[in-house]
This record gives sequence, C-alpha cells and structure tokens, in this order.
Amino acid sequence: MTTTEKQAVYKDALREINAVLMGETLMITKMASINCILKEYIPYYFWVGFYCVHKGTLVIGPYQGTLGCLHIPFSKGICGRAARTETTQLIKDVHADSEHLACDNRSNSEIVIPVFDADKKLIAVFDVDSTEYAAFDEIDREYLEIIMMLHFNDNELEKSYEC
Ligand code: SME
Repeated sequence: MTTTEKQAVYKDALREINAVLMGETLMITKMASINCILKEYIPYYFWVGFYCVHKGTLVIGPYQGTLGCLHIPFSKGICGRAARTETTQLIKDVHADSEHLACDNRSNSEIVIPVFDADKKLIAVFDVDSTEYAAFDEIDREYLEIIMMLHFNDNELEKSYEC
C-alpha cells in the first residue's frame, strides 16, 4: 500500500468513526465500533483490540481477530511496555523484540497506542497486529493517536455499563 493509499483509507475510516460515534459516551461501545471500522477499512490488519487497565494490569477488552491473551501484566509484552512507558510502540518485527508475547504466531509486526481519559489517566492500550512485516509506520501512528485522543480523552466518557 502506498503512503497516499494508506492516508486515504485512514481518512475514510476516521470519517466513519467520527460519524458513527457522534454523541456516543460509552467506552466499550466506542472500543467495539472503532475495532470494527478500522478492521473493515485497513487491509493489513490481522488482530485489532483493546487491553483495558484493571487493578494494575491489562485485561482483554473488545477485539476482532483470533483468541488474544486474556491478561497481560505491565511487566510483559509490547502491550505492557506501552502501558508502563505510556508511549506508542511501533514494532516492525515482533520476533526480534524479546518482550513480545505471541498470542498468535501469525503476527509479524504491531503497533500499540496508549489510551488516556480526560484526566490523562491511562485507561487502556490499543493493539493492532499484522501478518506482514513492517506493516505500520508514522501514518498509522498519527491516525491511531488522533482516533484515541478524539474518542477517549472525553469528559463525557462513561467507563462501564450493566447488561
Ligand atoms: N502482541 C502483544 C500481545 C497481545 S496479542 O498480540 C493480541 C504483546 O506482545 O504485547
């Protein structure tokens, strides 16, 4: 995918995410919808989902893809490193990263974005894996950081609901 094509699909995905989530306040609802829209638009996504911060650890939240690890401590995995350092992790070859946790061996590259609420508190990490090597770059980082900021750094965010 060329840079121009990548920017175009992210722009379309962002437009749909913003339209669908207009006025939405529920965190889980936002997470599920963002996963769905991004996976539909971006062809190199293999696994996409959120790990939520719960009692000082990361717990699987809404996702699309094959079975993910259920719990990831802050001390483990690329997700744990993103949570610990509160910085985006852009990994071109996960097998070359000694901290990588292989939930599915078909993943070869990934990007993990920390997700903050309006009080700048870390509430989750957003993880995308690809079967391609070096699938993610600064364009993915830019758009995904914008999406996370727009939809979770939100004073109206409601973090839970009962079914
Ligand atoms: N790759 C992650 C683990 C989660 S799964 O890939 C769904 C990591 O090393 O943190």
